[in-house]
Amino acid sequence: MNIKGSTNIVGLIGHPVEHSFSPPMHNAAFEKLGMDYAYVAFDVEPQNLKSAIDGAKSLGIRGLNVTIPHKIEVMQYLDEIDEVAGLIGAVNTIDFKDMKGYNTDGIGAVRAIEEVTSIKDKNVVIAGAGGASRAISFYIAKYGASRLTILNRNVEKAQKLANDVSNSGLIGDVKADSISEIASILDDADILINTTPVGMHPNVNDEPIASASDMHEDLVVFDAVYNPNETGLLKEAVNAGAEPVFGIKMLLYQGAESFRIWTGVDAPVDAMEDALRKTINLK
Ligand code: ATR
Repeated sequence: MNIKGSTNIVGLIGHPVEHSFSPPMHNAAFEKLGMDYAYVAFDVEPQNLKSAIDGAKSLGIRGLNVTIPHKIEVMQYLDEIDEVAGLIGAVNTIDFKDMKGYNTDGIGAVRAIEEVTSIKDKNVVIAGAGGASRAISFYIAKYGASRLTILNRNVEKAQKLANDVSNSGLIGDVKADSISEIASILDDADILINTTPVGMHPNVNDEPIASASDMHEDLVVFDAVYNPNETGLLKEAVNAGAEPVFGIKMLLYQGAESFRIWTGVDAPVDAMEDALRKTINLK
């Protein structure tokens, strides 16, 4: 990387950030396109968030990714929030051109799935009702799914999310149910999305949220867990003849979308994916 007087800075704020995969992914993209940019990670403690945003503005930083624990708190320091990010209530990308916040996590999942199938008019089932599910659910609705069923251990939490998504007016048919009902609910589903941590390293032998016998061969199964690369759930999908979509693709496309927001240029996703695979020590 050739850092010069003219180099534009983008980066990440979070706490902690040292294990982030974003710097190598974005810097590979800048290098590939010969762009005069560098991406760095800043560890910002919660009490310093406002001064970090003010400082970034003063320093002429072009854009930031925002990760835990700042995704919600940072919104109050921005001038504008993208409509879907506002519905989600969390921001993971800031464009300093107009101090506008976006949420590219859900877009990342949607683009990962759309590599294999369109979301429009599909019956989508999502497991989990936490932050990741919230980001993805609103984008599933925005991309035209005909039905969304949110499954969770804590059904009340799923119902609250379902109400929020329904109130957005982006989709007509949203339901909540217990994750224990997954087998029957998958019968007429087109896409299953896992946002729970079940099967995540080191718990790779967790019983997957669904088994091959619950699935059918027209199902697309996306697991937001990216380590291991092929989770227990995705193995079940392969055994059922269903189409697996790997969690690493969500990381890739959320980054690609942030890159496009900051630079106005389509991201070189192949170079970014190569860098991601090298960085993430996949188990
Ligand atoms: P994230 O930001 O990654 O979405 P989160 O907000 O902590 O993380 O949400 C985790 C989700 O995974 C929750 O929906 C949680 O279910 P509960 O609300 O019932 O706790 C779900 N989850 C976590 N561990 C799980 C497990 N072992 N089996 C099923 N669901 C699980």
